[in-house]
Amino acid sequence: MKKKPPAGGRGETAPRLLAELADARAVSGSALAERLGVSRAAVWKQIERLRELGLPIAAQAGSGYRLEAPLDRLDAARISALSPPALRQRFGSLDVHWQLDSTSSELLRRASTDPRDLLVCLAEVQTAGRGRRGRSWRMPLTGGIALSLLKRFDAGMAPLAGLSLVVGIAVAQTLEDCGIDAVGLKWPNDIVVDARKLGGILVELGGDAIGPCHAVIGIGLNMRIDAAAGAAIGQPWTDLARLAGANAPERDLVVARLLVRLIDALDRFSVDGFAAFADAFAQRDALRERHVRVLRGDAALDGIARGVDARGGLRVAFADGERSIDSGEVSVRAQR
Ligand code: BTN
Repeated sequence: MKKKPPAGGRGETAPRLLAELADARAVSGSALAERLGVSRAAVWKQIERLRELGLPIAAQAGSGYRLEAPLDRLDAARISALSPPALRQRFGSLDVHWQLDSTSSELLRRASTDPRDLLVCLAEVQTAGRGRRGRSWRMPLTGGIALSLLKRFDAGMAPLAGLSLVVGIAVAQTLEDCGIDAVGLKWPNDIVVDARKLGGILVELGGDAIGPCHAVIGIGLNMRIDAAAGAAIGQPWTDLARLAGANAPERDLVVARLLVRLIDALDRFSVDGFAAFADAFAQRDALRERHVRVLRGDAALDGIARGVDARGGLRVAFADGERSIDSGEVSVRAQR
């Protein structure tokens, strides 16, 4: 009997194939073809697609295909079950998609048609994942978490200036809850451990600049990155599997913990603003007293980072005095 396609799979072959391989036992190409109701050539094509997406699959002569590592798939029902009941009731929606262009693009599209507060969207595959400053964001299949959350606010965009930093604190606390020490925040949006990037945050605003508006908060976290995927990242990186070793939690649990921390932080931020988070940021500030280069377009200016101001801007001591800079289109590099 054919198995039912997993929720969110929309009947596509790749996620159904993944479900067939999930128990880590080798399955022959012909058995997979039979179970999925497709040709052996179609199975081979989808195995190649899963490999291209970054999932290591061994092919063993005589026994068939086998996942090289245990499968850690996201499951919306399990994430909900792992979340405190009071929090569960707050989600307008919590969806796990097999594939999207970008979880943040999806919520930006839904912002105008779905009036609910707190929409949560995850995807196993992002075909056009976006990072800050127009960069792309890629993660191997099941090797990361790509999560976006839409939150509505009443009082315009100006009070949201420090939001990316507040989200960073919530992500850092989540990682600390998972047993990771020394999580740093590299202003404005990087989660780092030992100067290696573990995750990134992209906050995009929409709606009325001085009235009801929304933020789509996109979070990318490295969970288990292999050498091939790591080589494409283009900067020093790390992942939860390396940092937590055998204690690395499953992705569903990390997501559930992240939502608790995030929603708690957003509630507090809506009432008290960034001021309530200044100490928590300072404790994790990875740039403080570091030599930094501030890049705006082609211009570069060197200085020393002096923490953040009451709105979350980075204080930098330049040769001609100390100034705050807003995240906007600026990039900051630690020099030494
Ligand atoms: C950065 O470090 O530049 C920010 C990266 C943000 C990536 C996340 S993954 C989930 C969400 N969807 C996207 O397309 N981007 C964000």
